[in-house]
Amino acid sequence: MSKHTWDPDRYLTYADERGRPFVELLSRIDAHVVRDVLDLGCGPGNLTTLLAERWPAAEVTGVDSSPEMIERARAEHGGRVTYEVADLRTWAPEEPVDVLISNATLQWVPGHLDLLPRLLAMVKPGGWFAFQVPGNFDAPSHRITHALGGEPPYAELAGDVAWPASYDAATYLRALGALGCEVDAWETTYLHVLHGEDPVFDWISGTGARPALQALEADPALRASYEEELKRRLRAAYPASDIGVLMPFRRIFVVARVAG
Ligand SMILES: C[S@@+](CC[C@H](N)C(=O)[O-])C[C@H]1O[C@@H](n2cnc3c(N)ncnc32)[C@H](O)[C@@H]1O
Repeated sequence: MSKHTWDPDRYLTYADERGRPFVELLSRIDAHVVRDVLDLGCGPGNLTTLLAERWPAAEVTGVDSSPEMIERARAEHGGRVTYEVADLRTWAPEEPVDVLISNATLQWVPGHLDLLPRLLAMVKPGGWFAFQVPGNFDAPSHRITHALGGEPPYAELAGDVAWPASYDAATYLRALGALGCEVDAWETTYLHVLHGEDPVFDWISGTGARPALQALEADPALRASYEEELKRRLRAAYPASDIGVLMPFRRIFVVARVAG
């Protein structure tokens, strides 16, 4: 499978829309005495900063496997927060923390259900583990992007790239309940109103479609034709209207209280 990188500028294009689930996730964590907070898959750090604001006395650490993201986080949101480049599948804090949060990241970790015991071990007894993942992988935006990548002539370069995936809220609730947690799990479908010529393409080119687009960079003409065809299909699936382009976006939220 070809490896992809992250582009903080492109990812931050919809920072407001992407930030709202983080705030809503955070609002369900009822932790008061907090010494340490960990943000796994912290990205460019703009949301990690909110953790430092919420718990001003806590030591806040952001971890991400993308050097580009951590570079941006350190440059723009350093100071109160310590950032580290590491892979959450193998990295662990020296001591368990009071709050572990992971926003819009676990969908990029295949088989992450099996990782839940390891993640829970990073949290103190009585502490909190909260995460949010997109739950829209059967939405037209993903189906179209994935299908096109599997078609000739694109499949040779884009047919074997990372595609994000997640489970439904009940699956996470059962898995964490079986591990002794008290779990609050729910889903929300946001109805984003987007503007511009190809706003759905702009959105997914920073996340779900990025691996395919990057793999195709090896053949610039092919990449250009993939982008053009992808935009055409996305415009048909998400037509412009007098109020903009409506893009429903389902997300899954999980807040688990670790047994004390
Ligand atoms: C969609 S971004 C989310 C960033 C941030 N949490 C936010 O909500 O804006 C996903 C992030 O997960 C990171 N990531 C993906 N797999 C990872 C892994 N195995 N270990 C650490 N970070 C990972 C990526 O580098 C990327 O920055």
